Amino acid sequence: MILSANEAHVAQAAQALRDGQLLGLPTETVYGLAANATDDAAVAKIFLAKGRPSDHPLIVHVASVVQVPLFAAPVPDFAQKLMAAFWPGPLTLILPRKSCVAAASAGGQDSIGLRCPSHPVAQALLQACLPLGVLGVSAPSANRFGRVSPTTAAHVQSELGPELLILDGGDCEVGIESTIIDCTRGEPVLLRPGQITRAQVEAACGQAVRGKDAPQVVSGQAAPRASGTLESHYAPRAKVRLMTAQDITAKLKALGPHANNLGLWSAERPAADEGFGAGVLWRQQAATAEQAAHDLFSVLRELDARGVTQIWVQLPPDTPEWEGVRDRLQRAAA
Ligand code: TXA
Ligand code: MG
Repeated sequence: MILSANEAHVAQAAQALRDGQLLGLPTETVYGLAANATDDAAVAKIFLAKGRPSDHPLIVHVASVVQVPLFAAPVPDFAQKLMAAFWPGPLTLILPRKSCVAAASAGGQDSIGLRCPSHPVAQALLQACLPLGVLGVSAPSANRFGRVSPTTAAHVQSELGPELLILDGGDCEVGIESTIIDCTRGEPVLLRPGQITRAQVEAACGQAVRGKDAPQVVSGQAAPRASGTLESHYAPRAKVRLMTAQDITAKLKALGPHANNLGLWSAERPAADEGFGAGVLWRQQAATAEQAAHDLFSVLRELDARGVTQIWVQLPPDTPEWEGVRDRLQRAAA
């Protein structure tokens, strides 16, 4: 059931969370499948609905930095700086978990992912939750495990069915999931690239950001698992191929009139004498990383829904601002 995000519906959604139910929640990145972070039975419903292994940790969403000490301690200096710089916004921090709280949500790990979303509906919901005793909201992306993240309320419904309560917050502005920085290794480590770039993180905390293969300094602790870091993820049904513009032109030309059931996401529409015909469904890839990130999952989902068997994607430039989009594309193609 999709509800417009007015005050009454936000209050209803907060009560549903307090009562142990699930909720489709808009955020600025992608839609989440939310439950009360400290209600283990409710959190178990998330894993079941997504078909996600229960040892894959979830991100806990909080209304503000005020709730951080309820879930995590100690919070290193550089993490405090990152919260001050980017919260509310599309940045998740992995912090040492307070041992007594949200164990199921954390997939049993002794760390916890925290994020304060900026989407006004997510903010309103998290604020409405506080007086009901819901101090944080666990929410993975609201898709079935391994599939494309949803960026509209309708996407969530098509993934998880008509029974689920979904707050409609419109089209997600960012379009790809939050940047994840692990703050449990004594220095910032990038686990998942997103709209907030490595350079921005470095500038805000004054420390170099390591890649996710950085050595573990916390003794006796396994490296955190991040499903968003599995090689194959964000996959539509159609086969995704990453190609250069030249490659696309050459291969289309070679196929000629035989090109069929082919989706194409590239910067420029191929000409008719380059093999572009009725069998090719073209969507324009935006020239800026921000706009392309916004479009990425909905384009993959739309081409998939139209029944193409292959999606050819022009590989964006290998520059820092495109890191998040390239990461999702590489996983979709894996
Ligand atoms: O933008 C986002 O982050 C969205 C919206 C809904 O907030 N959420 C999202 O959640 O992308 P999910 O579950 O699809 O991806 C969360 C990632 C996973 O790769 C998970 O393994 C990782 O965060 N993660 C969560 N807690 C962790 C922890 N304690 N240690 C390591 N990785 C963690
Ligand atoms: Mg996900």
